[in-house]
Amino acid sequence: MTAPTLTNSVPHRQPPRVELAETLELPSVSGDLLCIGDLDGPTIIEMLDLAIELKADPAKFSNSLTGMSIALIFEKPSLRTRASLEVGIHRLGGQSVVFDQQDSPIGVRESVHDLGRNLERWFDAVAARVHRHEVVEELASHCDVPVVNTLSDRHHPCQALADLLTLHERGLVLADSHIAFVGDGNNVCHSLIQAMVAVGGRITVISPDDHGPDPKVIDDARILAARTGAEIVVTSDPDQVAGVDAIYTDSWISMGEDQNPEKIASLARFRVDAALMATAGPKAIFMHCLPAHRGEEVTAEVIDGRASVVFDQAENRLHAQNAWLVARLAR
Ligand code: CP
Ligand code: NVA
Repeated sequence: MTAPTLTNSVPHRQPPRVELAETLELPSVSGDLLCIGDLDGPTIIEMLDLAIELKADPAKFSNSLTGMSIALIFEKPSLRTRASLEVGIHRLGGQSVVFDQQDSPIGVRESVHDLGRNLERWFDAVAARVHRHEVVEELASHCDVPVVNTLSDRHHPCQALADLLTLHERGLVLADSHIAFVGDGNNVCHSLIQAMVAVGGRITVISPDDHGPDPKVIDDARILAARTGAEIVVTSDPDQVAGVDAIYTDSWISMGEDQNPEKIASLARFRVDAALMATAGPKAIFMHCLPAHRGEEVTAEVIDGRASVVFDQAENRLHAQNAWLVARLAR
C-alpha cells in the first residue's frame, strides 16, 4: 500500500487584500518606518491629510485592516503608544498582538533574525519599541513585512507625525512654523528635527552643549534643509525661543538611561517655565510627548496651563499612526 500524499502545495502566507469601502487616494508609502527620514515631505503632508480624514470620519476606514494582524513589541514601558496602537488597529478592523519584552530583551531568547523570520509568517506588520535603534534596524532587515519603530534610543517617528498633526490643528502652516525644542537632545528631539526639516519649517534646538542632539542627525538635517527650505539652529541660549510658535520639551532622563545628577544639573536652566513661555510670546503653545516630570523639564503651571496641547498630541498619536497603517497596508 502506498503512503497517502498531499495534493495541494502550501504557499507561504500571503497578506490579505483589503479594498477600502470607497476609492480613496492613499499616499504612496513603502518600506519600513524606522525614522522620519524614511518619509519625504510631500508624503508626510499627504499622510497628515489622511490622518485628518481618519479623525473626522473613522467609519469610512473601519475595514481598512480587516483580516490583518499586527505585532506590537515592547522592550520598554508605554501608555500612549500601546493604547493608541491597540485602539487604532481595532478601529481599522485589524487585530493587534502585544509582546511584552520588558523582562526579556529582544535577541536574548532567540536571535533577532529568527524573531523576524517568525513574525513575518503570522503578521502583516510589526511595531517595535526597543532600547537600541540597531535592534529595530536589524529586525526590519530580517522581516519581510513592514516594521515601524515605536521608539528607540535614537528616534520616535510616530510621535513626530502626531506632533505635526497637532501643530496643523492649531492653525499653523507647517512650512511657515517655528518650533523650539528645549532640553535633552534625545530621540524625540531627533524625530522632531527630521519632521520639521522634511516639511520645510524652522526648528531651533536649545540644549546644553554636553546634551545636544546627535551631530550626525544635525548634519543630515542640514543637507535636507538645503532642499526643503527648512532652517535649523542649534544653540545653548534659552532666549532663542523669542517669537517661536511652540516650545517643545521632553524628559531629561529617557527610558533605559541611568539616573544622572550631573545631567539634571546641566539641564536645570533649560526648564520650561512661565518666564520662558513669556519670552516665546503670547501665541506660543507648549508641547511634550509625555510622560512628563513636573518640576523637572517643565513646571506644572506651564504643562497644566492654557498654552499646553499635550493631550491633543497624545490623542493624535492614534490618528497619525492609523494614517501610516492605512497608507502602508490597505490597498
Ligand atoms: N509619548 C509616548 O511614546 O508615550 P508612551 O511612552 O507612554 O508610549
Ligand atoms: N525620550 C523619552 C520619550 C518617551 C516617550 C524616552 O525615550 O523615554
